[in-house]
Amino acid sequence: MKDKKDHINRKGIILAGGTGSRLAPLTISVSKQLIPIYDKPMIYYPISTLMMAGIREILIICSEYDLESFKKLLNDGKQWGIKFEYAVQKKPEGIAQAFLIAEEFLNGNPCALILGDNLLYGSDLINQLIMVNKNLSNATIFGYQVKDPERYGVINFNENKHVLSIQEKPSNPESHYAVTGLYFYTNKVVDYAKTLKLSSRGEFEITDINNLYLKENNLNVQILGRGIAWFDTGTFDSLQEANIFIKTIENRQGLKVGSPEEISWRFGWIDDKQLLHLGNKLKKSSYGEYLIELLKE
Ligand code: DAU
Repeated sequence: MKDKKDHINRKGIILAGGTGSRLAPLTISVSKQLIPIYDKPMIYYPISTLMMAGIREILIICSEYDLESFKKLLNDGKQWGIKFEYAVQKKPEGIAQAFLIAEEFLNGNPCALILGDNLLYGSDLINQLIMVNKNLSNATIFGYQVKDPERYGVINFNENKHVLSIQEKPSNPESHYAVTGLYFYTNKVVDYAKTLKLSSRGEFEITDINNLYLKENNLNVQILGRGIAWFDTGTFDSLQEANIFIKTIENRQGLKVGSPEEISWRFGWIDDKQLLHLGNKLKKSSYGEYLIELLKE
């Protein structure tokens, strides 16, 4: 347990397991979170989100089968000025299982969990993330308006926009606000996870964790406005939409979305020489060329 605020260090978790069965046959031999969104593997986007919040110690949770592939891609994180650790989820028994797996890694610290298939992009998002990361006394989750709320955790509000409850995939959703797959929690989350029972669909539900925080009056729900794009890439269509979105933005601006190398360099976590080294290793692709070009700014 941490006694001084100075020593409290929020750690990140990326949940990148699951069977990917909704994207088969794409996911028969490759983890869902390693398939591309335009010019980079899907997991680069949630890694970038945590980095933008200022989080530098990240646990990647994946299946045993995919562990070596993730390690091959991401190494120990030093190349990006951060630290990766890895843990295996033997069986996908729900998102909240991540906290049981991560207990030792967290070592009493607060955390941010992001699902490995969630992509967030938008104006001022970075400042919102930095602010939320600094709030160590409350849990924070994000609501986002969607057309098809029944696919998600859904927020029920009263007429004063006060959050009453969160329901997992309700057949009759009470609002159009879905809970995104990015969650900031206090160090109580491991204890909460230990109290959970398997739901009727056989999972430890993240929605149950959120409702526990809500019951304790300790859940901050921030709405992400229409200037923000949130994708979860759970279906062929949403995968394709995310690809087109990233391609369009990147080609229009000549700037990359979700490049951990660039974020690390802009934050001063790696220097020019390190960025050049990373760029040179990939210089036959336009991704590598982009990293080298950044140095001419
Ligand atoms: O994307 C946001 C939504 O994510 C939330 O609104 C829902 O409340 C939350 O339950 C979750 O819903 P999904 O239906 O998207 O969850 P899914 O089972 O598809 O899992 C999301 C990702 O987490 C997926 O890439 C696989 C990974 N996962 C999932 C489970 C259940 C694991 O790695 N292990 C698991 O045990």
